[in-house]
Amino acid sequence: MKKIALVTGASSGMGLATATALAKQNIHVVMLIRNYAKGLAALAQVKKASGGSAEILQADLGDLQSLERLANKFQAQHHQLDILVNNAGVLPPKRQETHDGFEEMFGVHYLGHFAITNMLMPQLLQAPQARIVNVASLAYRFGEINFADLNSKKHYSFVKAYSNSKLAVVLFTEMLAKRLRFTQVTANSLHPGIVNTSVTSRIGGDFLATAPLISKVFLTPEKGAETAIMLATDPALFAVSGKYFDQGRPRKLAAKATDLNTMERLWSVSESLVQEILPDFKAIYQP
Ligand SMILES: NC(=O)c1ccc[n+]([C@@H]2O[C@H](COP(=O)([O-])OP(=O)(O)OC[C@H]3O[C@@H](n4cnc5c(N)ncnc54)[C@H](OP(=O)(O)O)[C@@H]3O)[C@@H](O)[C@H]2O)c1
Repeated sequence: MKKIALVTGASSGMGLATATALAKQNIHVVMLIRNYAKGLAALAQVKKASGGSAEILQADLGDLQSLERLANKFQAQHHQLDILVNNAGVLPPKRQETHDGFEEMFGVHYLGHFAITNMLMPQLLQAPQARIVNVASLAYRFGEINFADLNSKKHYSFVKAYSNSKLAVVLFTEMLAKRLRFTQVTANSLHPGIVNTSVTSRIGGDFLATAPLISKVFLTPEKGAETAIMLATDPALFAVSGKYFDQGRPRKLAAKATDLNTMERLWSVSESLVQEILPDFKAIYQP
């Protein structure tokens, strides 16, 4: 039976490269896209470059009701989910809010992925061996979880809000690995490297990538996607869970990303935040 993967943010950059690489490996790829026209173009690109099979499903990670609709559609069509790559990302120059009113990076990088992962858990649990791959960033090291101001309303800098959201992604991954430890589902997070995509172009990456010395630092989206693809497919990693990889290598996490109290509190606060929009939402329990 063909494996099924779902990749968020599959319309460009590393998400598109990841979707293409997975389809090349004979995996059916469901591409979560938010813009239908852009998604159709990306789907055509994936099919042409891979010769494999793929489909698009539309949702906005900042709109939890749209994620619920997507999960329902997925469940109606697919019995199992083997690979979930939570990749979508943003870097807004000034403070922005999602459709549901959360600070955009907290809402998209973290809360939307927290919600969709839990919504698709029944399908992940159906796969013989499922993998959740969360695209974080080494910026997590500069982040903090300020429970009094999760939406950065009192103080906002995009670097800080980005770092905070990526720390939340790493803490989420660690908690997932703990909650799923008696199952066949693994969860790992990663830093892809510094990659020349529309995210970095927004902070001058296009210009920097042409500078002689700095250009060597920037990876192509295909190179940047390699760690996510490795975590999603390498047979040797079938039992690896709760790890953080930086460009292909496992790295020790900073203490702030492994603090059990923060992890548990973030999990239960996040469940409540999602329930404000979707009252029937339930995150998985500690087995
Ligand atoms: N580039 C780097 O150097 C770097 C370094 C560390 C970590 N990362 C992380 O890598 C991941 C991929 O980023 P990238 O560099 O490949 O950026 P990218 O080319 O800008 O891709 C971002 C993707 O996320 C999608 N997206 C954004 N907001 C969304 C929303 N609300 N709902 C659904 N999809 C949404 C975008 O869709 P649209 O096409 O509709 O905009 C796009 O497909 C991100 O999580 C980023 O934080 C990147």
